[in-house]
Amino acid sequence: MAQRSYSTAAIEVHWDSDRCIHTGWCSKNLLSVFNPEQHPWIQLDQGELDAIVAVVEGCPSGALTYTRLDGGPQEVHSEPATIVPWPNGPYHVRGSFLVEDRHGEVFDTGPRATLCRCGQSNRHPFCDLSHREAKFHSYPRVAEPQEPAES
Ligand code: SF4
Ligand code: FES
Repeated sequence: MAQRSYSTAAIEVHWDSDRCIHTGWCSKNLLSVFNPEQHPWIQLDQGELDAIVAVVEGCPSGALTYTRLDGGPQEVHSEPATIVPWPNGPYHVRGSFLVEDRHGEVFDTGPRATLCRCGQSNRHPFCDLSHREAKFHSYPRVAEPQEPAES
């Protein structure tokens, strides 16, 4: 859909609408900068640089990324990558690896991504929230067998 960039002298923030899963994390944590009610919805001059970096790095889907223009550190990709299944939702990935589909198309997951595990996404391999409509239900890990009670 849309890929946009917003910049100041110190930082460029990139937003990929196809990757956004609308968690609201960004606006909950820094509404002055990330506010869907304002236009443009990202206004970098309304927040401190460190706070903007922290919020972008917390965006679970990787819809938000940044490039520091002031010589400050760029985001470090987690090593090794971690994959956490969210209850009734996607796999949350931190770190870089490549996903290749059956047609040879390659997707880079870094530095963060939410990967579909319900099978219903229209934006494979990424989650697009279709799991909600599909009422995807993930099963908890199988419980350890219980020791028989002593009699
Ligand atoms: S934190 Fe990331 S995934 Fe969540 S609403 Fe903001 S841009 Fe979208
Ligand atoms: S897990 Fe979200 S669309 Fe499949």
